[in-house]
Amino acid sequence: MASTKFFSGENIPLEMHKARMVQKINLLPVEERLKCMQEAGFNTFLLKNRDVFLDMLTDSGVNAMSENQYAAMMKADDSYAGSETFYRLEAVLQDVFGMKYFLPAHQGRACENIIAKTLVKPGAFVLTNYHFTTTKAHITLMGGSVLDIIGDEGLKVKSELPFKGDMDIAKLNEAIKQLGKEKIAFVRIEAGTNLVGGQPVSMDNMREVSRICRQMGITLVYDASLLADNLYFIKTRDEKYKNADIKEITREIASLFDIVYFSARKLGSARGGGILVSDEGLFLRMRELVPLYEGFLTYGGMSVREMEAAAVGIQETLDMDMISQTPIFVEALCDELASKNIPVVTPPGGLGCHVDAMEFCSHIPRTKYRAGALAAALYIASGVRCMERGTLSEQRNEDGSEKLAEMELARLALPRRVFTLSQIKYTADRLNWLFLNRALIGGLEFVEEPKVLRFFFGRLRPIGDWPEALAKKFRKDFGESL
Ligand code: F0G
Repeated sequence: MASTKFFSGENIPLEMHKARMVQKINLLPVEERLKCMQEAGFNTFLLKNRDVFLDMLTDSGVNAMSENQYAAMMKADDSYAGSETFYRLEAVLQDVFGMKYFLPAHQGRACENIIAKTLVKPGAFVLTNYHFTTTKAHITLMGGSVLDIIGDEGLKVKSELPFKGDMDIAKLNEAIKQLGKEKIAFVRIEAGTNLVGGQPVSMDNMREVSRICRQMGITLVYDASLLADNLYFIKTRDEKYKNADIKEITREIASLFDIVYFSARKLGSARGGGILVSDEGLFLRMRELVPLYEGFLTYGGMSVREMEAAAVGIQETLDMDMISQTPIFVEALCDELASKNIPVVTPPGGLGCHVDAMEFCSHIPRTKYRAGALAAALYIASGVRCMERGTLSEQRNEDGSEKLAEMELARLALPRRVFTLSQIKYTADRLNWLFLNRALIGGLEFVEEPKVLRFFFGRLRPIGDWPEALAKKFRKDFGESL
């Protein structure tokens, strides 16, 4: 792979695109940021985007689109049934993944709804390297349970392992033996793995999981939402694939699975989703649900313009210059933070830089949401919006007690081709200030707590007046600076 070295020897991520359309963003003074956070119930999901300087909440639906994607949107074929746009998207997906059938859905979680409704019966189990919030919610709504069987190293913040998202093969065999294959609705691999720091899964691991599932006759599902990052890591961290063609790798991955689904808000840098399947019987069972929950089979709840953009975006995912952009910027941010001793998940993964709130806010009790408090504090300190990925993102246990997450992360997502290096450096600078002032950050408690996916619209309050104290200290240290 050709990557560009700097004569100075510095490791600087280089943008392989240029900006031709821009959006103005605003950085409010700290006093106003404090007010906005209070109004948002200390939940970064409830901030208004106009009050956010750098939106690192997610990479979902906010990746920069290419000129070719915008151009494709203009030739979308508006038609309820039999749209040309559908056939164009279907042909791209069949070509890229080498799978026969495509079912459109309005986004990733809609695919999860269809898959869970088709395969999960009450009392059944889904074995996964690591769950995603919406995946788990759909499975439990159907009366199923999720077992995370990621390798132990995957849950360690600091590691040298190149593929921390790998499933633990011994645990997989053990779970199949204990539960019996009749109790297993399906095995699921998510690669990259969202909730544990965007960590990739190796080809060897996927191949071994597939071999076991095929031998046992267990359905194997691949969540390809973060495939772009995973492809980059397979090419750069697995010597065997260094010179492999990206499409060949994609097809090899797909050949290992019975069902592949994705959020096109991530994969393809548009908005939408889809399910791919090779088996006709499985296709027909899932097909029934598409018109019921999504829309007719040739749009599935997506706008035809987004479908055109996704078709082009998915083809662009086969370009190393495109898929490298998020990982190299994540690495730059992680390295900058690590150089200041700020705890981050290593090795750097895809999706975003993950700050370890377990250590950053070790003085806050676990039940007072360390990662949630850090996310709120970072917004006050910088106007940067990140996302809590820790206990707040978990569902309570059935007896109402807190389910403490295995990791407490503040995720600074880097949507593809959106932020510049100076914006990354600004973020690192404010995080450094916050780290040196971390004793000022306090805990949070719920004021309004929804039962399902509480992190989306739950409202919280700070314990004590720490947000005011933090804003005051910022003003003192930064003078008139924003
Ligand atoms: N699977 C993974 C691995 C995801 O990261 C997401 C979404 C979904 C499924 C659901 O897809 O949003 O299109 O319904 N992740 C977003 C995030 C929300 O911010 O990480 P969706």
